[in-house]
Amino acid sequence: MSRTRMSLVAALALVAGTSGTALLTSPAGAATASVPCTVDYKVQNQWDTGFTTAVTVTNNGSAKSSWSLKWSYAGNQQITNGWNAKIAQSGAAVTATNESYNGSLANGGSVSFGFQGSYSGTNAIPATFTLDGVTCNVDDGGGTGGGTGGGGGGGGTDGRADNPYAGAKVYVNPEWSAKAAAEPGGSRIANQPTAVWLDRIAAINGVDGGMGLRAHLDEALKQKGSGDLVVQLVIYDLPGRDCAALASNGELGPNDLDKYKSQYIDPIASIISDPKYAGLRIATVIEPDSLPNLVTNAGGTPTTTDACVTMKSNGNYEKGVSYALDKLGAIPNVYNYIDAGHHGWLGWDSNLGPAVQEFAKVATTNGANMNDVTGFIVNTANYSPVKEPNFKVTDTVNGQTVRQSKWVDWNQYVDEQSFALGLRDKLVAAGFNSSLGMLIDTSRDGWGGSARPTGPGPTTSVDDYVNGSRIDRRIHAGNWCNQSGAGLGERPTAAPAAGIDAYVWVKPPGESDGSSSAVSNDEGKGFDRMCDPTYGGNTRNGNNPTGALPNAPLAGHWFSAQFQQLMQNAYPPLP
Ligand code: GLC
Repeated sequence: MSRTRMSLVAALALVAGTSGTALLTSPAGAATASVPCTVDYKVQNQWDTGFTTAVTVTNNGSAKSSWSLKWSYAGNQQITNGWNAKIAQSGAAVTATNESYNGSLANGGSVSFGFQGSYSGTNAIPATFTLDGVTCNVDDGGGTGGGTGGGGGGGGTDGRADNPYAGAKVYVNPEWSAKAAAEPGGSRIANQPTAVWLDRIAAINGVDGGMGLRAHLDEALKQKGSGDLVVQLVIYDLPGRDCAALASNGELGPNDLDKYKSQYIDPIASIISDPKYAGLRIATVIEPDSLPNLVTNAGGTPTTTDACVTMKSNGNYEKGVSYALDKLGAIPNVYNYIDAGHHGWLGWDSNLGPAVQEFAKVATTNGANMNDVTGFIVNTANYSPVKEPNFKVTDTVNGQTVRQSKWVDWNQYVDEQSFALGLRDKLVAAGFNSSLGMLIDTSRDGWGGSARPTGPGPTTSVDDYVNGSRIDRRIHAGNWCNQSGAGLGERPTAAPAAGIDAYVWVKPPGESDGSSSAVSNDEGKGFDRMCDPTYGGNTRNGNNPTGALPNAPLAGHWFSAQFQQLMQNAYPPLP
């Protein structure tokens, strides 16, 4: 992670208010197809003096390499800042032109941008839009996005539940459950829900005779019964996967975007769209680590890797994630959660600001729009605690902030719940829906057992205080592979706090993060020395020892010794 500490660019404070969707209605019988463009102007949030809006423009005419959309306000609306378009306003007249990265607009293609503005009185939606001088139609909410449901009726987006986990059971993966149950003591947790990782194309049909996606969804229908049930799928096969590490490198090369779309995302979307699965709530975790890697490891930082530079410059992480959001988000019972790293990665303002911009960019380009995003997930497969019970980031010791301790290292957060909620505020301010819900992967962040501090540390120095207080016993918060001393965390729980949709177990406990020595394999996986307990570390963990358990198998393979330690150190403890 970047250690560059820039002064915080003040984020515009948004007052929470009523969220209103205001879709324009085209005149009855209007023939939309013959009109060269369609505009969907959606007020996402509105409060007494301000509003945020998302605009999606669809081009029904010939392909463009740049574009300019104009409209006029009838009232006193004044745009204060925008994203994913250059916006200029003169009196009531507004012109939005493309950014360098979203100028191309194919026939049938669409582009989205957003902005924040102030107003008083009424905030009426503009009557007319022109794209490069030609008058557009206005979207009646029915169509271009691919069938996310008809009328714009109730709250939430497109008839989805606001929080899919509320009032629902969560799918128990029988394959993980069987491995857990086969371990001594494992039956205590074998009935917990864990995510299904679609970590390669072959996983869609099942690897080595194992369950494929249809088999899981059929089993999910059985578990569902007459109630609601959430199935958790991890979408994890981007081109050039895991660009800052080696342990979870995947099968697709850096330029295999087309293969990703046609052989991975499309088949998944087609199976999930089967009407027989329409009653399931499908929560997707979109591409762990990918966008965070573009933010901190893709140029200009000591943590940069060549592979991440490649993935940033070819755009295939962004295009792949946008494509997945768009394709899966078009299915009415899918709830997309984008991976947002963890506090020990993006928790510095100098990383979090750019990360929010990156998320907004992928959620509004290449066909994706903000309504494709239900929320974000933090701590996927990581070990950061939900809460540090014995100290807060605002604590001081002898007049010194704990932020200057070696462990905190000037981070703005010390745990995942505060990070998730802080991130959520920034995302909503940047134009994401105010209904956004966060998930926290708590599968391995419990830190119980005999080494767990029971109260605050001594106030002899900030370091003594923080080191004596913290339940996270890692050598460094940048350590991520098979951490020694970790325990199972909070059991999966729906709606544990406002803004948090659920605590979830996405990383299945007992599945390795990576092998501790090189192992030849046909899964594309490399050997990352961050999984080697004898290694002295790299720039991403401050050149500290790795804290990894020895004798670990390949990433994703069963690691009995780790499973036993996770149960041993569970917090809350197991019976
Ligand atoms: C790692 C592996 C992947 C596995 C996942 C869950 O990311 O690379 O193959 O499915 O962990 O254990």
